[in-house]
Amino acid sequence: MESRHKVILDVDTGVDDALAILCAVRSPQLDVIGITTCFGNVDVETATHNTLAVLEYAERTDIPVYIGAEKPLLREWGGPVPWIHGDNGLGDAELPPLRRLAQDESATTFIHRMVTEHPGEVTLIPVARMTNIANVLQFDPTIARKLKRIVMMGGAAFCPGNVGPFAEANIWGDPEAAHIVFHSGAPITMVGLDVTMQARLTSKQLATLSESRYSEFLKEAVSFYINAYERTQAQDGDDSWCALHDPLAVAMVDDPTLCEIKDYYVDVETHGLLTAGMTVVDARAVPEHRPNASVCVSVDAPRFLQWCADRLGFEV
Ligand code: RIB
Ligand code: CA
Repeated sequence: MESRHKVILDVDTGVDDALAILCAVRSPQLDVIGITTCFGNVDVETATHNTLAVLEYAERTDIPVYIGAEKPLLREWGGPVPWIHGDNGLGDAELPPLRRLAQDESATTFIHRMVTEHPGEVTLIPVARMTNIANVLQFDPTIARKLKRIVMMGGAAFCPGNVGPFAEANIWGDPEAAHIVFHSGAPITMVGLDVTMQARLTSKQLATLSESRYSEFLKEAVSFYINAYERTQAQDGDDSWCALHDPLAVAMVDDPTLCEIKDYYVDVETHGLLTAGMTVVDARAVPEHRPNASVCVSVDAPRFLQWCADRLGFEV
């Protein structure tokens, strides 16, 4: 049997981050060696608390959690987004009080230590601002060639953004960090809005969630998130839905055939008045630079939904 993939998730937990964590720890081929936290959907303390709470919910208190950045590299943080993820970041659904704390080691040193100890083996799955990953790469640029791959949820290649006409939230939230990551030389898979906005969980599917100790928590958290999508996105079809952004990045490590991929040179706009945070993809026939990223351009959504359903317990 092929050995399991060593993965580190970098999260700003967040409803879809919570789903991504659950999917990851319920994927037999993924060995989640740790989870690092970042500001983004919520502040880093809340992201850390939610990550620990979700791991307790999943009965995976063996997975250590490391606290990361509280603000972007150069900018001020714009604050949380309670209208999308609730006041507590988990759609205002409650989980029991925590029974353990995060580790004392920082997110940056943990990532650095793991990649150094296991060269060529560790896949990073950042589904938050790229700040922690940029911090590691700035501290030690050789990490880029010791990583197996970075499979990020972030960017919008050939589709509109979600925090502006062009920018996706994880890139927009710290464009300078994303710029460092794309220019690092690390092998990158970009799982952006082109595919995550097609990876939809509907209210009807959520209603089929099988009864478990915590299914009420999941129903409440995801219902909040779906309601936010109803308010903020044009919803086609006869059923409301939310996008499963972060779970798709995890799925692409477990099964890279879920998306069609094309290699491009991707840069990040850090200055534009209207375009800061845009992922600029050079799709010309003869681009100026060699590709630095494998960009997901389409997704087999039914197969991805089945992958999620198998891990979260709903019917498709
Ligand atoms: O744009 C979607 C991304 O921003 C997701 O990772 C979501 O959790 C937020 O971080
Ligand atoms: Ca996220």
